[in-house]
Amino acid sequence: MKLSSSTSILIRKARLSPYLFSLLAFTLFAIFLYSQDVGYLNLSINPNPSPSTTEKQYKKLPFSIGEKEDGCDVFSGKWVWDPVNRPLYQESECPYIQPQLTCQEHGRPDRDYQFWRWQPHGCSLPRFNASLMLETLRNKRMMFVGDSLNRGQYVSMVCLLHSLIPDHAKSMKTFGSLTVFTAKDYNATIEFYWAPFLLESNSDDAVVHRISDRVVRKGSINKHGKHWKGVDIIVLNTYLWWMTGADFKILHGSFDDEVKEIVEVSMEDAYRMAMKSMLRWARQYMDPTTTRVFFTSMSPSHEKSTNWEGMPNGNCYNQTEVIEDPNYWGPDCKKSIMEVIEDVFKKSKFPLTFLNITQLLLYRKDAHTSIYKKQWTPLTPEQKVNPVTYADCMHWCLPGLQDTWNELLFAKLFYP
Ligand SMILES: *[C@@H]1O[C@H](CO)[C@@H](O)[C@H](O)[C@H]1NC(C)=O
Ligand SMILES: *[C@@H]1O[C@H](CO)[C@@H](O)[C@H](O)[C@H]1NC(C)=O
Ligand SMILES: *[C@@H]1O[C@H](CO)[C@@H](O)[C@H](O)[C@H]1NC(C)=O
Ligand SMILES: *[C@@H]1O[C@H](CO)[C@@H](O)[C@H](O)[C@H]1NC(C)=O
Repeated sequence: MKLSSSTSILIRKARLSPYLFSLLAFTLFAIFLYSQDVGYLNLSINPNPSPSTTEKQYKKLPFSIGEKEDGCDVFSGKWVWDPVNRPLYQESECPYIQPQLTCQEHGRPDRDYQFWRWQPHGCSLPRFNASLMLETLRNKRMMFVGDSLNRGQYVSMVCLLHSLIPDHAKSMKTFGSLTVFTAKDYNATIEFYWAPFLLESNSDDAVVHRISDRVVRKGSINKHGKHWKGVDIIVLNTYLWWMTGADFKILHGSFDDEVKEIVEVSMEDAYRMAMKSMLRWARQYMDPTTTRVFFTSMSPSHEKSTNWEGMPNGNCYNQTEVIEDPNYWGPDCKKSIMEVIEDVFKKSKFPLTFLNITQLLLYRKDAHTSIYKKQWTPLTPEQKVNPVTYADCMHWCLPGLQDTWNELLFAKLFYP
């Protein structure tokens, strides 16, 4: 008896579960339909476009003053030699460039890298208008958040604007992870916040951060994100620091825990976690009707000349030409990460503006700082004659390539 009753219960359970399953499926489907409806209703009141496809249907984005030519992808194009209109300022005219990026001062023999202009295939970029930018920033805060490449874009932006401001009305100050350029008469700030992973990590010290065994803490975006709240325009990046070439260590819990629970995941999964956290932060703290959020794609390195059929044993050192192959994509730059970005952003309704600059940077093996820089100390003569080891093929000379990042930012801000 006992046995049979328990058997019947088991059978009942087994019969129940498909029924439950279909009920659940139906309920989920109904919720899905309903939320789609609500989604559409909401959208007409409160614009929530996804970046690429649906922009047009909604109210215009904050700060926009016009539209780009129909269907023009400003990130698809080519570099054209234009010594008349480039560079946009001189290295010696901008005192804010860190010695890591002042290539002329550190002996680069050519200036060719300064004379290229980005020409999209489908349209022309609007001319960078510094006074329009400054006027737009009146009573506002613009912040760049990320790693040293993002800092380069930040400095480029300051260089593009500062000559309109008299000396007594501008200042640049650093407070730990935060650097603030103030345009007093405009009550405007342009800021940089060091957070190479966006999330909390063991590389967060703004000065001492060269740690080889990198660990990032899951769910920790607010550790840094609390310092970004209240900004009007935010430009984020993160990439290079994830490229350890191995699985990535993710900390569950806190850096203060005595026994740390660390889980190793693939670089792609770790990066996906960061992208999702960033979007969650944006949804929570950035109002899409008054503020703008930008994300800059990966900045590639040029470590191996054989990747572009150069001489063997070379790198970005002594490169003065741009790569002509429109499909060039070196192995230093992970396509799998671009796929993660694409996937995460596609699923999000937050109107983040994606600055897809990777391809146009890939062509520019000539624009890196190479050996013409000073980080803590200048390179020694022994290091200078060994560029295979000591050339920096990640960072970019200023003025130069990174000014184009801001021309594209300008284009997307005002002509989305
Ligand atoms: C730049 O923007 C200002 C408005 O802030 C405008 O008056 C000026 O005409 C613009 N300059 C160019 C060259 O478009
Ligand atoms: C100055 O700008 C800040 C935002 O950065 C704003 O909160 C404040 O109201 C502005 N001050 C004036 C006097 O407009
Ligand atoms: C730099 O490149 C040129 C060719 O573009 C080559 O002739 C020269 O030997 C190279 N110099 C060094 C130091 O590698
Ligand atoms: C960015 O541009 C590259 C190259 O043009 C393209 O392959 C990729 O799909 C683009 N990424 C996104 C997220 O649109």
